Amino acid sequence: MTSEHFTPFTVMPPAKLRGEVIAPGDKSISHRAAMLNAIANGSATVTNFSPGDDCTSTVELLRALGVEIERSPSEQIGVGDTLVVHGNGMDGLRRPHSDLDAGNSGTTMRLMSGILAGRPFEATMTGDASLVTRPMGRIVQPLKMMGADITGAHDDTRAPLHFKGGELAGIDYALPVASAQLKSAVLLAGVRASGETTVREPAKCRDHTERMLSAMGAQIRSENGAITVTQSDISAADVEVPGDVSSAAFWMVAGICHSDAEVLIRNVGTNPTRSGVITALREMGGDIELLDERVVAGEPVADLLARSSDLKGIELEGDIIPLLIDEIPAIAVAAAIANGKTVIRDATELRVKETDRIAATVGWLQGAGVKSEGNDNGMVIHGEGRIGGGEFNGRGDHRIAMSLGVAGLVADNAITVSDASCSSISYPTFWNEISRLGGSDAD
Ligand code: S3P
Repeated sequence: MTSEHFTPFTVMPPAKLRGEVIAPGDKSISHRAAMLNAIANGSATVTNFSPGDDCTSTVELLRALGVEIERSPSEQIGVGDTLVVHGNGMDGLRRPHSDLDAGNSGTTMRLMSGILAGRPFEATMTGDASLVTRPMGRIVQPLKMMGADITGAHDDTRAPLHFKGGELAGIDYALPVASAQLKSAVLLAGVRASGETTVREPAKCRDHTERMLSAMGAQIRSENGAITVTQSDISAADVEVPGDVSSAAFWMVAGICHSDAEVLIRNVGTNPTRSGVITALREMGGDIELLDERVVAGEPVADLLARSSDLKGIELEGDIIPLLIDEIPAIAVAAAIANGKTVIRDATELRVKETDRIAATVGWLQGAGVKSEGNDNGMVIHGEGRIGGGEFNGRGDHRIAMSLGVAGLVADNAITVSDASCSSISYPTFWNEISRLGGSDAD
């Protein structure tokens, strides 16, 4: 995204925060539902597809590879689009006529690399100004070990990535980082590689790829942190995408931080590899209740009720970090409103997200009068029950911009987010919901 596309939004802290929000379709599951059905045999319907630009990048990229995808809006308010994906197996993909564009989406680029590796045609995949700075060596390296011919900028560590075929063979690979994108790239290449492909996770991270491959009939097993897939043909499967816990996290934080709040968030995916944010906010003292717990298309789902709470600082480190990595910018808002010190360690990965989220978070917190420090692998936030107002920018990063929006709901004074529109990457209606909850735009 370029700065000329950004529009500002001012959030005024409301005296009361009451309301109901429906979480938009999960971004991670939406990407996988489109990609896996595109390389499966048969047609499948995906409902409640994420409305974010990142998942549109995936749809457009698959279309550029010759996959037929119909997209239509849902007739139900709060429910995402419906896709019908017509897969022709992995061998049904066609050489693209021009460069493939993953936009701002790391998930698109990394997972599609696993699919493009070893295809019998050449393809180049690139992305926006943020994506071309993000580390790709982590996927290029294991895919080359499997036999893929891939080159990239900066000694094959950055996009644009150029794929030139190769015969793939399975490997046994210990992931150097607990990254679901890396794990998924290797597993997706493994679906077409000869023999078995095993990835070993240093810590558990989101498992949507494994769940979906298994539901589509791939031979895949998981034991003690080692996931093994054998060369398989997969069959199309309908997917009803649950609501995104990463989007819901903003409303959880707003509900527990505001002094007079009750917010109901409907249809939230609570897969244990994603729900670390609920555990962490509850440990801070957050009153978050899980209602109507159910299973939708193999994924656990609940409605969440978040109410005003007395919050205290906590320490977050180790195995919980990959389970809440995307929610740390939102958790930082709760840490500022809490009383006491919150310490976040083992989160170096934040440095290589859509922006450096340690620098971005600590930067705006300090600007809003919250004592905080960043370090190599995390941050320390000295919560004193308050956040000041002012004008800030999210550095073009959707999750930083939305954390600022939530901060505006609970701050002493208005907060203006100068690049508010970048929320469209995962949550285009975020600011409408802010207005509906009472934090109306003062512009
Ligand atoms: C994602 C995995 C995470 C996360 C990203 C989505 C996925 O990245 O930050 O927003 O869908 O697999 P890493 O796996 O690189 O940590």
